[in-house]
Amino acid sequence: MSPFLSLLVGHKPPRSHTLEPVGERWPLDLPLVRFSKLDADVWTLGDACQGVLIMGENGSGKTSGSGQLIARKFLQNGFGGLVLCFKTDEADLWREYLKRAGREADGRFFSPESAFRFNFLDYEAGTSGVDFAENLVTLLVDVASIQKRTEASGSEAHFWLPQKKKLLRNAITLLLLAGHPVQLRTLYQIITDAPHFPEQTKDPQWQAKSFLFDLLRKAEEKAADHPEWELIKNYWMSERPLLPSKTRETIDADFTGMFDPLTRGKIGELFGASTNLTPDDILAGKIVVIDIPIAKYREAGQYAALIWAQLFQRAVDRRAYESPVGRPVFLWEDEAHYFTIEQDALFQTTARSKGISVVRLTQNLPNFLDAYGRDGKHKVDTLLGNHATKIFHRNGDAVTTEWSAKTIAKDTQYRHSISGSGSVSAASGPTSNVSVSEVEEDSCPPKEFIGLKNGGKKNNYTVEAILFQSGRLWRKSERWTTVRFNQR
Ligand SMILES: Nc1ncnc2c1ncn2[C@@H]1O[C@H](COP(=O)(O)OP(=O)(O)OP(=O)(O)O)[C@@H](O)[C@H]1O
Ligand SMILES: [Mg+2]
Repeated sequence: MSPFLSLLVGHKPPRSHTLEPVGERWPLDLPLVRFSKLDADVWTLGDACQGVLIMGENGSGKTSGSGQLIARKFLQNGFGGLVLCFKTDEADLWREYLKRAGREADGRFFSPESAFRFNFLDYEAGTSGVDFAENLVTLLVDVASIQKRTEASGSEAHFWLPQKKKLLRNAITLLLLAGHPVQLRTLYQIITDAPHFPEQTKDPQWQAKSFLFDLLRKAEEKAADHPEWELIKNYWMSERPLLPSKTRETIDADFTGMFDPLTRGKIGELFGASTNLTPDDILAGKIVVIDIPIAKYREAGQYAALIWAQLFQRAVDRRAYESPVGRPVFLWEDEAHYFTIEQDALFQTTARSKGISVVRLTQNLPNFLDAYGRDGKHKVDTLLGNHATKIFHRNGDAVTTEWSAKTIAKDTQYRHSISGSGSVSAASGPTSNVSVSEVEEDSCPPKEFIGLKNGGKKNNYTVEAILFQSGRLWRKSERWTTVRFNQR
């Protein structure tokens, strides 16, 4: 193992401040990072689009080492991007990156203090047409899954998930039939306003005050002959009031918990009536930073980031991407375990053909395992397995280092052993047997991850990491190699 400097490729940045597509080309073999002097060790756009996982303990140099280098390369090469924020200083870090890449003008910081707005329900309606209700149901269920995913599993999930979808489907379709705008606020109001027991549906006082009842009346006037009308009326007036209250509360909890923080105050305004920023801006080369950091805004920040991430991934899925004319984009998730849901694994499998590089940074494997809940192991394996490039920084977490060693896999070692018998004083003299045995050994044992340099003055601002890419050999013959990054 001999560490060597990662040399930056001198690729001339495109005229990124204007970002006119004219003359810009991004072939899949576009070099991004040169990890050694050998041409074979160039890391390209095609490699980036197979996903990047960066792991290392707190302060190991993920953000300031490998993260910084890859982020800068993406910006210098004219990528569009979506950046999700956990830490409060993440947005400033990206301001600095944009400035250094000469792309300040492309930065769009979506925060409660900004003038950007994203009415994602309108956006979804505009992009999905007749499938709107069903697509919106899926989106909201997916986003809500970030909080409750540790609870339902196995057979429970088989019961709750269809119930949750049914609730949203009936709320959204009712709004559409009544000719009322579909907004988070109105969805929230329908759910909180629905009758709690069958007699309540006949109570004139409830009928006079209820937003839900008003919608039902309007829908009946406008769409009584609609094939879904009877089903919707039945759901709200009979089926749902008959549910035991515990069951109903469990079905509602994900959505009331999500709609509440997203419809209040400044965050409510961000996702309110108007729209001046969408995932399409990212495809056109903008860098959208969701500056609602989870460290400050808690679950509101998490939902906001997830809404953007899910809609961005859908926009990427829909786009007609062709290399080399299609502009590459990236999804950046530092502290990724706060932003990752089950659907991401599936998306990751198609990312390469869609010109998107997803970069996920996290401290350790248990973070992901915790986030995915008790049945989550195979989901985590699937997700992380779909990030072909893995950069492992210093780590003392045994679960992670063992997993990393296993990921890099085993080499067959040939161990020689000599056994002797007989005595020097024996007439025939001593005899010895040489035997060779085949032993499977970790090609990168867990202890390799412990001693890596983690930057700062004491290390002369050098960060080290172990680089691995499935199906690739470095320096002609090595399954993994140690690389260095300069923090400055
Ligand atoms: N630009 C810089 N110049 C010098 N030192 C830095 C710089 N950025 C970070 N450091 C220091 O280098 C070390 C690695 O920091 P970094 O933030 O990259 O780690 P990390 O792996 O991202 O940690 P975390 O898990 O907490 O996000 C820390 O001790 C940090 O204080
Ligand atoms: Mg960090």
